[in-house]
Amino acid sequence: MTKAKVIGLGHYVPERVVTNFDLEKVMDTSDSWIRERTGIAERRYFDPEKDTVANMAAKASRDAAEQAGIDISEIEFIVFATITPDYFFPGSGVLLQRELGLEGIGALDIRNACSGFIYALSIAEQYIKANTYRTVLVIGAEIQSSALEMNDRGRGVSVIFADGAGAAIVQAEDNEQIEGILSTHLHADGRFAEELYVKDPGSSRKHRLTKEMIDEVGIRAHMNGNMVFKHAVVKFQEVINEALEANNLEIGDIDLLIPHQANLRISQFVQKQLGLGDDQVFNNIMRYGNTTAASIPIAMSEAWQKAVLKPGDLLCIAAFGSGFTWASSLIKF
Ligand code: COA
Repeated sequence: MTKAKVIGLGHYVPERVVTNFDLEKVMDTSDSWIRERTGIAERRYFDPEKDTVANMAAKASRDAAEQAGIDISEIEFIVFATITPDYFFPGSGVLLQRELGLEGIGALDIRNACSGFIYALSIAEQYIKANTYRTVLVIGAEIQSSALEMNDRGRGVSVIFADGAGAAIVQAEDNEQIEGILSTHLHADGRFAEELYVKDPGSSRKHRLTKEMIDEVGIRAHMNGNMVFKHAVVKFQEVINEALEANNLEIGDIDLLIPHQANLRISQFVQKQLGLGDDQVFNNIMRYGNTTAASIPIAMSEAWQKAVLKPGDLLCIAAFGSGFTWASSLIKF
């Protein structure tokens, strides 16, 4: 049976570094509050003159292709996870396709927020296992900073989210000995949709966008932080165990866990629950904040560059976020 193997990883983060001290200047917050609650010290914000979701994704894609040792032209399909597309429509998948000069190939947009990358990866995995495509580009990329409210009213959300892009190239592998992506596991519970969401502009109201929506924060992210935290710590653990059980593996078989970089406290809680050591969990939220769909592929790419993730390793990735959605995957490198 054809396997789906991750053969290249890449990432791009904007140059502009925004520290907690920079945020202190525009809202009533403090470096210590942000560090204690989230683990974040600094994050990256895009440059409107230079960065778009699609061109950041293109930079990450070229990085991934180079690392994989393939030519961009070998890519047959794009799966693009973002909740912050460059346009209301079309999605950023076609913009990335244009940017990479891959006219004609399919480009699919995924909007499952923080779980988006794993949802996207599962699609690449299935297309490859079904022998539909042999080389698929999977992206998670976001520009959150342009929607953040940089004042006291928005501080609960604004200090967490940030910008960046990550890419993975997934390729068909016919060698029986190579395992590649072992499985992906996807979940959602729409009863909690409004606990972490951006309400406006939405199609189901008389006027899609009004001045009131802008004034009354409908266009900004609303997050019930406590509710997100409580569900996240349970669902992360559940979905990681589900992946292990599906493959007759135990937690001790994992070489590395990369959780979605939601919040360092959530990652540390999950690490403790699972009994994993510090060298078995990779976090970089301290430097990049929460980049939603981009956080897992950025972390995977960085872990690979730093040789924290190595050839032969069994990696577990897991995510939880808006929807609520949650997901996991086990990948052999
Ligand atoms: N700086 C300083 N104070 C802030 C603040 C900020 N940036 N944001 C909120 N506060 C204040 C609140 O107004 C509140 O003040 P009050 O007690 O006077 O009302 C106080 O800090 C505590 O707020 P609370 O929301 O209870 O804090 P918390 O300990 O729950 O931490 C989160 C808030 C958001 C850090 C926490 O709920 C969390 O980590 N949730 C998960 C969020 C997440 O991971 N989201 C991403 C999902 S993918």
